[in-house]
Amino acid sequence: MDKLVIDGGISLNGEIRIAGAKNSALPILAATLLTDDTVTIRNLPHLYDITTMLELLGCMGVEPVVDEKMNVEVNTSTIRDFNAPYDLVKTMRASILVLGPLLAHHGKADVALPGGCAIGSRPVNLHITALEKMGADIRVEDGYIKAKMEGRLKGAHIFMDVSTVTGTENVLMAATLADGQTIIENAAREPEVVDLAECLIAMGAEIRGHGTDTIIVEGKEKLHGCSHAVMPDRIETGTYLIAAAATRGRIKLKDTRPDILEAVLSKLEEAGADIRVGEDWIELDMHGKRPRAVSLRTAPYPAFPTDMQAQFTAMNAVASGSGSITETVFENRFMHVHEMIRMGASMEVQGNTVLVTGVPELKGAPVMATDLRASASLIIAALVAKNQTVVDRIYHIDRGYECIEEKMQLLGARIRRLPG
Ligand code: EPU
Repeated sequence: MDKLVIDGGISLNGEIRIAGAKNSALPILAATLLTDDTVTIRNLPHLYDITTMLELLGCMGVEPVVDEKMNVEVNTSTIRDFNAPYDLVKTMRASILVLGPLLAHHGKADVALPGGCAIGSRPVNLHITALEKMGADIRVEDGYIKAKMEGRLKGAHIFMDVSTVTGTENVLMAATLADGQTIIENAAREPEVVDLAECLIAMGAEIRGHGTDTIIVEGKEKLHGCSHAVMPDRIETGTYLIAAAATRGRIKLKDTRPDILEAVLSKLEEAGADIRVGEDWIELDMHGKRPRAVSLRTAPYPAFPTDMQAQFTAMNAVASGSGSITETVFENRFMHVHEMIRMGASMEVQGNTVLVTGVPELKGAPVMATDLRASASLIIAALVAKNQTVVDRIYHIDRGYECIEEKMQLLGARIRRLPG
């Protein structure tokens, strides 16, 4: 297993480009299953999860064509298998996103039931009950969600008990080909849902209200091909900004979107960062100062994102003062805390809150990555630590951060991969 070796103590300084958003590219790749025409997706990030999604399409009989610029052409008319096998689903829960499109376009889908994961139990009951309400016959047996439908799905009034991102995306995709109108209430408002909706509209879908908590879809008999550029990754953007703030550095991020990062930018300003933005860039400068600890509470968009909580915990670890971080979206997202404590951090988990008192410095130690965002937070902790840190199990980071060591090196970090 590959490891990352990081020699800390350097302030990040420089300029990098932000990749396309993983959590928008994944549902958009799944959406190609809604049409027999060719869909071209541009600005696809170079990530392991994207390869897994392409592999999933491949095992159904689809042959996506990727060029050297990571633009991909997908034509799903060659599909012969409507199955998402456990081997792929267990490595990437987002495989569940093929359920809605397969059912809506082909009337059949067998998708392995994702299990719990390192951040919580993560059920998919809301995906299933919503599709049942649209007329699908769904059984869960032998570890699989087995869904079928005679004819078209029926438009329905769906109320999501909990705001769920992939749940909203599954129902949204299914509704584009349903007979009649679908109203999704308490829909997720995340920018990735909006990006998916815009791609679906380019494919001929009729959707309004995306970006609000009520999405209305008028079902169509057919969708067609389109070309769509994936939006920039707001979580990658935030991760580099926090890394720069924690290391008292100065960076400029290009090809990103400040307008979807308000909760994060305002916390960074509270931490003492000087931030300037343009339409597609963000600049952060700490003027060499130590950050101030911040308190925050995660919640669905537009509130503070759960995917950025671990990285702020790392910044707080070396900040002046103390801050509390409360996680309300997932029940078990503090695995990184115990690793940071091994590096000398002063932190205590109390229920769904971690109380952090900043220390003047962390010390390098061998640590273990447990999930994608926890891995990112350990890299930030390692960048500010004295001496060397070895981060093990970094396959998690390759799932969601494009060329992380190259980008970090461009910013001056002393980081290298140790093939395992
Ligand atoms: N939930 C249910 N029932 C459901 C679905 C969700 O109870 O049927 C609960 C979950 O257990 C959780 C809450 O609803 O407590 C919100 O989960 P959500 O369904 O929104 O999460 P997700 O769709 O599985 C996506 C991202 C995650 C991100 C969350 C929250 C993708 C592919 N994944 O997951 O991204 O943390 O939304 O914003 O879009 C990551 O990129 O590292 C990552 C974990």
